[in-house]
Amino acid sequence: HRHLLGIDPLRPDEIVTLLDLADRYVALGRQREKHATSLAGLTQVNMFFENSTRTQASFELAGKRLGADVMSMSMQASSIKKGETLIDTAMTLNAMHPDLLVVRHPQSGAVDLLAQKVRCAVINAGDGRHEHPTQALLDALTIRRAKGRLHRLTVAICGDIAHSRVARSNILLLHRMENRVRLVAPPTLLPAGIDGFGVEVTHDMREGLKDADVVMMLRLQKERMDGGFIPSEREYYHRYGLDAEKLAHAKEDAIVMHPGPMNRGVEIDGTLADDINRSVIQEQVEMGVAVRMAAMDLLARNLRARPTEVIT
Ligand code: CP
Repeated sequence: HRHLLGIDPLRPDEIVTLLDLADRYVALGRQREKHATSLAGLTQVNMFFENSTRTQASFELAGKRLGADVMSMSMQASSIKKGETLIDTAMTLNAMHPDLLVVRHPQSGAVDLLAQKVRCAVINAGDGRHEHPTQALLDALTIRRAKGRLHRLTVAICGDIAHSRVARSNILLLHRMENRVRLVAPPTLLPAGIDGFGVEVTHDMREGLKDADVVMMLRLQKERMDGGFIPSEREYYHRYGLDAEKLAHAKEDAIVMHPGPMNRGVEIDGTLADDINRSVIQEQVEMGVAVRMAAMDLLARNLRARPTEVIT
């Protein structure tokens, strides 16, 4: 693949190859000396048009640990603020010969559009409510390490599915790896046409969590609700917030996941989120660096296999 824009184009064996490489980078990240040279000589530019803590920091660390020249643009201070379009900004950077462009954008499809305009490899770091492929890959690595496999598991994805690119990428990946995916949400927070994705749907947490191996919670994404229905947080927590009582319906060894940033007391009980016997939220963050190292390493191998494009 030239780019990583979504989970959809990835075959199961390609997902396994990436996760196997990421496992090796987890081991490297736990050593005092964390450097490798896979991206040496390459230039990585991070463009985040939407807020981020985990994704931006981990892409920057991943690039630096692999020896790339990494530049994180401050989009708040960029000429976008003076009216320059996304494509003009991308073409300007393109003229500086980056090799990897990591992009987050609030509009679904914006990153795909940009990838058609530039010569370098583009990685989608989250576009609107469309896809967040490296999040699904880091979640898959976390699940595989906790459960010893990534197939024939029951995974409950709970909460604001309608506005979630994390849910969409996870549904695609988990379904492709032959897991049973259950969506648990109020009807107002489920996207239209979700039945076509090969998932089970319920509006009841206790029913949805029954015998689950993995419980994946999502944040209420008020910034994408366009002034539409915003449930009362108190009522939402009562019905859909994960606490010990609801989790008791899942398997005894079920793991609790959350992509972050989390709202404690809205979609998850804070004590449960911190319970290292159940919650793998911090492991997810660690896997994020390793998966992004693996993704950029594999894209760089493709880049190096292509002849250098010379501008005349
Ligand atoms: N999970 C995730 O994408 O977090 P950030 O928004 O902090 O990058």
